[in-house]
Amino acid sequence: MYIITDPQELQQYVRCTKSEVNTVVIVPTMGALHEGHLKLIDRAKELGDIIIVSIFVNPKQFGPNEDFAKYPREFENDCKKCESRGVNVVYAPSVEEMYPADYDTKISCGEITTILEGAIRPGHFDGVCAVVLKLFNASMAEFAVFGQKDAQQVMVIKQMVRDLNLPITLDIYPTVRESDGLAMSSRNVYLTPDERAEVPMIYAGLQKAASDLPRAESFLREYYSSAKYFNVEYVAVRDNVILTAVRTTQSKTRLIDNIVV
Ligand code: PAJ
Repeated sequence: MYIITDPQELQQYVRCTKSEVNTVVIVPTMGALHEGHLKLIDRAKELGDIIIVSIFVNPKQFGPNEDFAKYPREFENDCKKCESRGVNVVYAPSVEEMYPADYDTKISCGEITTILEGAIRPGHFDGVCAVVLKLFNASMAEFAVFGQKDAQQVMVIKQMVRDLNLPITLDIYPTVRESDGLAMSSRNVYLTPDERAEVPMIYAGLQKAASDLPRAESFLREYYSSAKYFNVEYVAVRDNVILTAVRTTQSKTRLIDNIVV
């Protein structure tokens, strides 16, 4: 397995390695890899045979008061997991390699980036679009695998791929959960024991709400109002997906989840 940090070197690697029979697949991540990420890698191996996993904690998608500095970083451990899962290249540029001092381009999708996550995290999806487009270009991948866990991120990236005719096919993998239903997330390590005990309620509520879509929003607000260790940031239904974000009260962790009905 190669570890590459320079975008031109990654393009060079792909040009030299790939022949007509090969298919390049990228799995973009911010590292601190859990079983959800690893399932995306397994899926990537079904789609192609040159598997690139990017590990980059993208400063542009974090707001000034968000957790960029404390976001978990476990690079060596992540590389071991990638190697054992059959990844060909870990692409891990530094912030300076990804965004040189004179970097000055903005990528922005429209309406979809202004609601829900976008309303609470202004600029977040512009940062996601910039880095994802750069990852697509550096890898020249034919497929990219993303998780349904980040439902709105999927909508935004689909919009960008469609609008810009990007020569890549998106593959969306279902949300991978702990045995008690909690969606796996690199941020779950922030949770206190009290919070961890209560947050399976998030998915339990989504499952109950899914049986009556027209009333899902009011049902969930009521259901979550009994939580002691988290507050709802939003509950919404869009395109047969029920989406929610909560913030826990002790560790102030933001968790998002959704269910496709
Ligand atoms: P990150 O949160 O590390 O997630 C990387 C990919 O793993 C995303 O496509 C995300 O949806 C998927 N994922 C995370 N948890 C999952 C779970 N429990 N089940 C299934 N898939 C899961 O999302 C990002 O990073 C960044 O925004 C990124 C796209 C890399 C751009 O910086």
